[in-house]
Amino acid sequence: MEQFKNYINGQWVAPKSGKYFKNINPANIEDVIGEFPESGQDDVNDAVAAAKAAFRKWKLVPAPKRGDMLRIAGDIFNRRKDELARIMTREMGKPVFETKGDIQEAIDTAYYSATETRRLFGHTAPSEMSNKMNMSFRVPVGVCGIITAFNFPIAVPSWKILPALAAGNTVIFKPSKDAPHAAVIFAEILEEAGVPPGVFNVLLGKGEMGNMLVEHPDVNLIGFTGSTEVGFKLAEICGRTNKKISLEMGGKNPQVVMPDANFELAIEGVLWGAFGTTGQRCTATSRLIIHKDIYDEFIGLLVEKASKLKLGPGLKDDTQVGPVIHARQFETCKKYVEIGLAEGARLVIGGKPATEGELANGYFFQPTIFADVTKDMRLFKEEIFGPILSVSKADSFEHAIELANGVDYGLSSSIYTRNVNDAFTAIRDIEAGITYINAPTIGAEAHMPFGGVKGTGNGHREGGWTVFDIFTEWKTVYVDFSDTLQRAQIDNY
Ligand code: UN1
Repeated sequence: MEQFKNYINGQWVAPKSGKYFKNINPANIEDVIGEFPESGQDDVNDAVAAAKAAFRKWKLVPAPKRGDMLRIAGDIFNRRKDELARIMTREMGKPVFETKGDIQEAIDTAYYSATETRRLFGHTAPSEMSNKMNMSFRVPVGVCGIITAFNFPIAVPSWKILPALAAGNTVIFKPSKDAPHAAVIFAEILEEAGVPPGVFNVLLGKGEMGNMLVEHPDVNLIGFTGSTEVGFKLAEICGRTNKKISLEMGGKNPQVVMPDANFELAIEGVLWGAFGTTGQRCTATSRLIIHKDIYDEFIGLLVEKASKLKLGPGLKDDTQVGPVIHARQFETCKKYVEIGLAEGARLVIGGKPATEGELANGYFFQPTIFADVTKDMRLFKEEIFGPILSVSKADSFEHAIELANGVDYGLSSSIYTRNVNDAFTAIRDIEAGITYINAPTIGAEAHMPFGGVKGTGNGHREGGWTVFDIFTEWKTVYVDFSDTLQRAQIDNY
């Protein structure tokens, strides 16, 4: 069986912990992908020391030169797209057409970050005194610990890692234990692109190792994507140690459908939003809110289409929905079906593990829809991260918006309507970082701000130009060329 290594200071090294864990294919649990390091404190110390030393030189490399390496990395991601997509599908399950899209987000981010290295704009402002100039520009933060989830093994890390490097930071990447192979390829690609030793490091391991990274005094910043529960814990550590932390956490994203919507489009949208990536996206549509006038009709059409979704191993060409990631997630799906039934929601399709033929070998769960879900039910409020959609009835447009906002999360949201007034009111009133009009809740683009409000985030936005607010500090400079002592606020008034 293949044994993988950490990537520290430009070297592929075995973990000092001496420990390894196995990672399996969720579509076929007999398919063991390999043994991956279960890194410990010594490995964390080595990676942090390497990143800290490398930072001294890397921050002095002209930003556009750093950008050149990122552009080459984008080219290599493109060259290795087919091979890498299959590696990702094998380890985390989603169909190859989706893993290719995942890599495309990294390619887009690489090219976008590369061009940003020629901007990274600062500000100049007039001074309140003569013969004095004021300016402010971005400087890197230092050593960044990047901790991510399994569902986007390349895209989500790339949103953090590539802009972090563009801005002159060094990085230690701790991927999910369920998608370590993709992280190994990430390191191979940055190495080939010419990123110097120590600038980018990969430490494989489990959750405890992520904590060690967050606790380490020489790590200056944490970028995290994962559950709200874990994110809040990491934020506590960062509060105590005075570290900057950017959090992208859970979601319970609504799609509202109004009577004047294009039905076909709204159905396609909710199926893709709810069951794409087997519902395992922080942006997944997990709540469908339908206006009462079309409630029964819409559910009927939806169930008919949902019953035709093709479940299967992601490596098969005709698969539309893959497995969930692991046994624990599989149990979570079963648990929420029980919860939904006990709460009195009406199961209209699915609700069980899918076991026909080869599906019996993996963690396949039927696309599941509950109707008549009310706002006090756990099904309505809690993130499940699986193929389970809840449907609620709205009495009016205002009620639909109230339901959309009736949860502790606020990442993505969507409304299907052809009424311009309702659309703009929804844009204004839905409490979420992202609102789609006549499009599903998933599908964010790399050059736009990405993040959420309420329990989803802590005020930061990845993606686009806003990501540099995470990965830089501001340096303010005053240049006085008057040859006199000019006392601000005193001599000029
Ligand atoms: C995530 O699930 O963490 O908009 C990110 C989307 C994708 C990114 C999802 N582009 O659904």
